Amino acid sequence: MSKNDPVTNLPAVIRKKTIQVFREKKEHNEPITMLTGYDYPTAQALDRAGIDAILVGDSLGMVVLGYENTLPVTVEEMLHHCRAVARGARSAVLIGDMPFMSYQVSVEEAVRNAGRFLQKGGMDAVKLEGGRERLETIRAITSSGIPVMGHLGLTPQSFHVLGGFRPQGRTSATARRILEDALLLEDAGCFSLVLESISARLAELISKSISIPTIGIGAGAGCDGQVLVVHDMLGFFDRFTPKFVKKYANLQGEMQHAFVEYIADVMARRFPANEHTVEMPEEEWQHLMEQIELDKRK
Ligand code: KIV
Repeated sequence: MSKNDPVTNLPAVIRKKTIQVFREKKEHNEPITMLTGYDYPTAQALDRAGIDAILVGDSLGMVVLGYENTLPVTVEEMLHHCRAVARGARSAVLIGDMPFMSYQVSVEEAVRNAGRFLQKGGMDAVKLEGGRERLETIRAITSSGIPVMGHLGLTPQSFHVLGGFRPQGRTSATARRILEDALLLEDAGCFSLVLESISARLAELISKSISIPTIGIGAGAGCDGQVLVVHDMLGFFDRFTPKFVKKYANLQGEMQHAFVEYIADVMARRFPANEHTVEMPEEEWQHLMEQIELDKRK
């Protein structure tokens, strides 16, 4: 928790973190903390708690917009949420997730779209999914001065090819391919890699084999940092919860409880009470009544 100014309740000294924090923390063997965030108040809360990085993940398509999967998410939708997060966070490193088809069609289009995340979305870096097939794209984006986070293992944008949302790298051949991809992404210039839904042993092996930090989600404790989808860990989205999620709250339950109480209060005329009501000065009221009376007599 960062120290807050007693008057404004904002952190007394706000130091903007950069992607350097990823490398420094790996060097000092300190875990990197990352959560997803999609809006202004959540970004404020994450920032005040002292999170290292906020990922504006395309998971917002499912947990905020209610799509079945992440495929329908557009760059415009992502940028809308990126801007809200950028307005709320003053310290955390901000990473924008490039959505499906924003970086696969051509390298030129990928660079242009990545640039929009920094220019129009207020992000510090972008994330994109995939291994060896993305090397040229990653090189081009990083050469334009845009830091890239890679994403290996379960890559939700490819769930049709992967045969669903299932753990990856469970055979020696597929595990080896993920390890090779990690080495290639490091070489292509990624500053960090998300490892999603792979065995803890494989994630630890990868983390020890590359010099850039790994951020795990469903990949065990051997990664250099951890990330979760904020709506999962807060119990805000309850359509399903992956096994690897630890729930820190039950906001969906809390929210429903509050709504039921509100409805009961309104039905029973307990809300609004006097303290929720605005009044006008008595003399102004009397004046209004007199004017109405006069108008009636005209
Ligand atoms: O979109 C997202 O939230 C992600 C995380 C699961 C890493 O990619």
